[in-house]
Amino acid sequence: MFFLQADDYHQWRDHARRLLSAEVPPAEIHWNSDSSQQVLFADPRPLPECSASRKVNVPKAFLEWAEIVACYCSDRRWQLLYRTLWRLTHGERNLLEIVTDDDVHQLGQMKKMVTRDVHKMKAFVRFRKVEAAAPAQEAYVAWHRPDHRIVRLAAPFFSRRFKEMHWTILTPLESVTWNQKELVYGPGVPASEAPQDDALEDLWKTYYASIFNPARIKVSMMKREMPVRHWPTMPETELIPDLLREASQRVDRMVDSTEGFAKTAAHYLPDQKDLASLRSAAQSCRACDLCQHATQAVFGEGRRQASLVLIGEQPGDQEDLEGRPFVGPAGQLLDSALATAGINRDDVYVTNVVKHFKFTEQPLNRGKRRLHKKPNSREIYACRPWLEAELDLIRPQAIVCLGATPAQAIFGRDFRVSHSRGQLLRTDWCNHTIATWHPAALLRMPNAERRAEMLDALIADLASAAAVT
Ligand code: URA
Ligand code: SF4
Repeated sequence: MFFLQADDYHQWRDHARRLLSAEVPPAEIHWNSDSSQQVLFADPRPLPECSASRKVNVPKAFLEWAEIVACYCSDRRWQLLYRTLWRLTHGERNLLEIVTDDDVHQLGQMKKMVTRDVHKMKAFVRFRKVEAAAPAQEAYVAWHRPDHRIVRLAAPFFSRRFKEMHWTILTPLESVTWNQKELVYGPGVPASEAPQDDALEDLWKTYYASIFNPARIKVSMMKREMPVRHWPTMPETELIPDLLREASQRVDRMVDSTEGFAKTAAHYLPDQKDLASLRSAAQSCRACDLCQHATQAVFGEGRRQASLVLIGEQPGDQEDLEGRPFVGPAGQLLDSALATAGINRDDVYVTNVVKHFKFTEQPLNRGKRRLHKKPNSREIYACRPWLEAELDLIRPQAIVCLGATPAQAIFGRDFRVSHSRGQLLRTDWCNHTIATWHPAALLRMPNAERRAEMLDALIADLASAAAVT
């Protein structure tokens, strides 16, 4: 029997790598994660050395799951992760797709709980101003009590959102400080050390006002989304509508993460994340059924250095045949709108939320006509890793979402282009994200006057996005 201890994902992974390379079956390992807990059994065997000759090939999706599940507070996780790893590498390579499997189900539950906890932390952490060492410098502290060890999962979000502030988030098990350059992790602290004073209300108001988009307020969600024990650190009630809007976006992502049982394009991402590798890997994507009927995947097009990214819904008939985005009728209208807005299409990266053409067939004379069909949320979710990889690589100054599909993929399902068109909003992707009409919506608009108005709006929105790049 091996008696092993792991405090975090990296320790577990190192152990697991060695054990697996020595073919140690799960039943021969006892895992625990508390260093103060004495192992009662004598003579634990030393860990085997990693055999360099045996390379273990583990599905990437598992590593992604493992990093999240490792934050789940229970010793069960290490055993479960190792058993799953063992099975994946011993003849059950597609195990993660079998949602009815007990281990996969348990892993999925843990992943969901951790993701949910991260969502709560993002929505409810509230900073307070404290005295800083240097007089000209302001520092902010927040106290939060997560259920799981999620500080490392959530901290990058705060470093992006509060890039210009010097802040610390304290939790009972871990803490993290952003010094405007890097995240520094430290031990946890008791609640009594968290600052009590009420200085940051205005900052929160501005912060929330700037990142939220108008969306319906669901009061019932408030009860669901605010566990009582978060209340002592919550902002006052006037901010609650804003928080609810945040919650609505986060709930979408939570729902998405439970859909994580399903297959996504993440399985097909190449190791090398440059545009050429991504584009060619997308051709082999089988994460949803759309690939079965389309001619080819239509990947985004443009330079990696582009400061403006345009996102459409999915390729149309002509795009599907040519393999390039926005080359059909909607593309021609887009080109002319870009030109009027003074934007050179060669300077822009143009892509779609979904990379394969979805259509229904209609008899036409002797042949058939392929009619565009809207992608469903399952397909959008499956395809999302491609879009995320594109945005991660390009890191544009501005993003334009053309129509409801990209807008909802980016802002959440409550987003309405008709309400929030033209507003420059902050998102996880970049500080200036704007939603506007899809050129195809103009082509379908029967009323000429209305169509002209929509075209003006499209041009103006493209121009205002270009102006912030
Ligand atoms: N419509 C889109 O959304 N994308 C295209 O590439 C073409 C038409
Ligand atoms: Fe993959 Fe997207 Fe094509 Fe579906 S639509 S197969 S997720 S590339």
